[in-house]
Amino acid sequence: MSVEQAAEVAVQALRWRDERLEILDQTQLPAREHYQALESVEQVVEAIRSMQVRGAPAIGIAAAYGLVLAARNRLAGLSAAAESLRAARPTAVHLQWAVQRMLAVEVGAGQSLQDALLAEARRLHAEDAQANRRMGETGAALLNNPCRVLTHCNTGALATGGWGTALGVIRSAWSAGRLEQVWVGETRPWLQGARLTAWELQREKIPFQLIVDSAAAALMQRRLVDWVIVGADRIAANGDTANKIGTYSLAVAAQYHGVRLMVVAPTATIDSDLADGAAIKIEERGAEELTRCGDQVIAAPGTPAFNPVFDVTPAKMIDVLVTEKGYVRGPDRFKIRSHLRSP
Ligand code: MRU
Repeated sequence: MSVEQAAEVAVQALRWRDERLEILDQTQLPAREHYQALESVEQVVEAIRSMQVRGAPAIGIAAAYGLVLAARNRLAGLSAAAESLRAARPTAVHLQWAVQRMLAVEVGAGQSLQDALLAEARRLHAEDAQANRRMGETGAALLNNPCRVLTHCNTGALATGGWGTALGVIRSAWSAGRLEQVWVGETRPWLQGARLTAWELQREKIPFQLIVDSAAAALMQRRLVDWVIVGADRIAANGDTANKIGTYSLAVAAQYHGVRLMVVAPTATIDSDLADGAAIKIEERGAEELTRCGDQVIAAPGTPAFNPVFDVTPAKMIDVLVTEKGYVRGPDRFKIRSHLRSP
């Protein structure tokens, strides 16, 4: 199955065309749909760092194609390129995982290194889209019907090889006629919810309403939410989950109000080397993401700001973890270990 068939959605965050990586520049959405062509690994590193391409699986896939560009441009070796890609964003394990997988590629007889790397990058891209479809169906089947879902950040086609993780479950639930309403948290400060998730849902005519992040608990109090569904950037061996800042607040509010929490992520997001979430490195970004809104300055000049962009939700607060292999209720280290060993 090709990436396009597996995704079956109009929007593609990345595509390989004419020997170049084209990315849909997410810093310009929703105002402008512009594909930017990247021709060197340095450009790919910068696109990841500046979040023109973002979302854990999408940055892993971009890094894979970045190594194809590094090989084509005949760099002395791939290891320096791999190092700069790995360092572009620290929290999403997908980036490290994809780079590792690319470095393990074996070149077949009569094949160039570039061709071998391109074949692997395409495989990784298509596998992600296929995993999303499986997670979508699994997650949707776990929801009550009709269901009101609250989601955070952007976990859709823009963040993945296609379809999406948490947003993939929402898409599948909509196709299956199980969805009544989606609440989209705006996701301060970068506004992935307002700018990207709303844009994706609108294109597919899935009913949703945008809310300020701080409205979530009040909606739960009014019994307007059945499930919180989110993605993940890194899951420790015991199930502790790093995701976009604000996920932990949602988990706390959900637990208090008896709302269930689903985490949707491919098994490549599970970092078995980390015993628990305390060891997950949390990316901190610049103060200007808080003190400005687009071009508009919204805080007094010189305002100090602290901007951690991910948080960690303890496994014990997660009702179900959905992966391409199925699902784990009440994830812990033992259940996750046996889930990873399952076919
Ligand atoms: O900073 P971002 O926009 O890259 O953060 C993205 C998220 O936190 C997503 O929830 C996560 O990567 C899962 S995307 C399928």
